Amino acid sequence: MSAQILDGKALAEQIRSEIKEQVAAFVAETGLTPCLAVILVGNNAASEVYVRNKQVACEKIGIKSEMYRLPETTSERELLTQIDMLNRNDAVHGILVQLPLPKQMNEQNILDAIIPEKDVDAFHSDNVGRISQGRPRFLPCTPYGIQELLIRNHIATAGKHAVIIGRSNIVGKPMALLLVQKGCGGDATVTICHSRTPDIAAMTRQADILIVAIGQAKFVTADMVKPGATVIDVGMNRTEEGLVGDVDFSAVKEIAGAITPVPGGVGPLTVTMLLLNTLTAAKNFKNCRQL
Ligand code: GUN
Repeated sequence: MSAQILDGKALAEQIRSEIKEQVAAFVAETGLTPCLAVILVGNNAASEVYVRNKQVACEKIGIKSEMYRLPETTSERELLTQIDMLNRNDAVHGILVQLPLPKQMNEQNILDAIIPEKDVDAFHSDNVGRISQGRPRFLPCTPYGIQELLIRNHIATAGKHAVIIGRSNIVGKPMALLLVQKGCGGDATVTICHSRTPDIAAMTRQADILIVAIGQAKFVTADMVKPGATVIDVGMNRTEEGLVGDVDFSAVKEIAGAITPVPGGVGPLTVTMLLLNTLTAAKNFKNCRQL
């Protein structure tokens, strides 16, 4: 039997309509409009698309978005000055610096310059530390979206073996932290595989939940998947065939119990969780002001 297709696009629309109502209620109650500032440095084609998607999504649900474009040749000092201005601007509740950054920049220096209260990506060292301690300020958007997808599709994580392929700071590592936490959407046994793992297939065949964020088109083949497993594909690879995930979807869907498509799986949820984090940042700002 073919796998259940986990429709991230439809779920994203449902969650966005929930957030839209919460934004309207917040605006009516406080007179404040949640605002996200997005900084894009250089001309990375994929980043241009992602940033545009984020802006459009904000506007549709009543969140203000401000775009700051800086040239590829921008110095770290110039970018830090821009971030500092946004940190001080009370009308801006969330700040996002689109990654990757040009080579002359130290990425973590930049991310750590955003005040943690406005760090809606949850990439600041303070926020990463808080996540690892189980007392998050924000959850990182892609892992948060995946956890929400699992919860809302009633896919249990407690006591399950979750295998993650990829150890990035954006997906692999924070995904492991979320799945291992105590409570809803957590309590899993977690394995992270990466380029130095000797036999990745031997690990993935043990996975009840397999999350793939490696950036190689169709890396996961049917023989690497346990029958009935849930397969989450974070890949976005531009190939001659068009946009392709890290999973060989047509073959793996015949083995898996549930699987996300690409496009229309994880991507729309990532943007949705960014919207939710921006609303949370605005609410936190309001509450702090009242103290
Ligand atoms: N580049 C790829 N994914 C992301 C993300 O989630 N946030 C930011 N800021 N940049 C990215």
